[in-house]
Amino acid sequence: MALRPYIVGNWKMNGTRAMLTEAGAIDRGAARHPGVQVGIAPPFTLVQAMAEAVEAIVVGGQDCHTQASGAYTGDVSAAMLADAGAGFVIVGHSERRAIHGEKDADVRAKAEAALAAGLGVIVCVGETEAQRDAGKAEAVVTAQIAGSLPQGEGAAAQLTVAYEPVWAIGTGRVPSAEDVSAMHRAIRAKLVALLGEAGSEVRILYGGSVNAGNAAELLGCDDVGGALVGGASLMADSLLSIVLAAAGPGDD
Ligand code: 13P
Repeated sequence: MALRPYIVGNWKMNGTRAMLTEAGAIDRGAARHPGVQVGIAPPFTLVQAMAEAVEAIVVGGQDCHTQASGAYTGDVSAAMLADAGAGFVIVGHSERRAIHGEKDADVRAKAEAALAAGLGVIVCVGETEAQRDAGKAEAVVTAQIAGSLPQGEGAAAQLTVAYEPVWAIGTGRVPSAEDVSAMHRAIRAKLVALLGEAGSEVRILYGGSVNAGNAAELLGCDDVGGALVGGASLMADSLLSIVLAAAGPGDD
């Protein structure tokens, strides 16, 4: 059974309490499209307030620590996110991998911590431009999947994979529909190889410069089960246009 399309906004390090009005507008808009699952990952500081303010959407974190608690100044655990009302967490975003030096093993440990805390988890993967130019995109991405996915019984049920080519993030550049389809098919094959039948049910989101104008084409590519949206998720109008594209004809 195909899962609902999943549209997730990653607010990155953007948003103060004034942005809760935008989240409210996103929530009201999402309520009109029950066939689409909508999530927002605001900065940690807004998780609790947003989770308390919304009804139709799910709120998530953008990262979590591998441990539930301890002497880790500045870090936030998956259990703390769950306690604040989060329903999911993004792990392994390319900005975490590049800026904070996170490796596949770190991403896997974080994903497993998230599952242990009862959260859904979105594991991000994606190649750099140099890797794509060298013809290594699929090899890089499938290796990231093999190294980053949480292990253990039942992990697939709470798992989402997000394919975000690093060179498409925040640049306005997107891969061709053929390239998105080819990569998502390769990811699907890897998921099935690793997880068996359960791997065919894991949603694979596309992320990287998704906007109202290109969402329908990207969401129509093979094995694309939704979108992970950065810049265009900060305003209700643009995110809701993407939700509408995911809902398809019939919704308005
Ligand atoms: P943009 O949509 O701003 O390119 O960001 C994508 C992203 O990194 C989402 O996680």
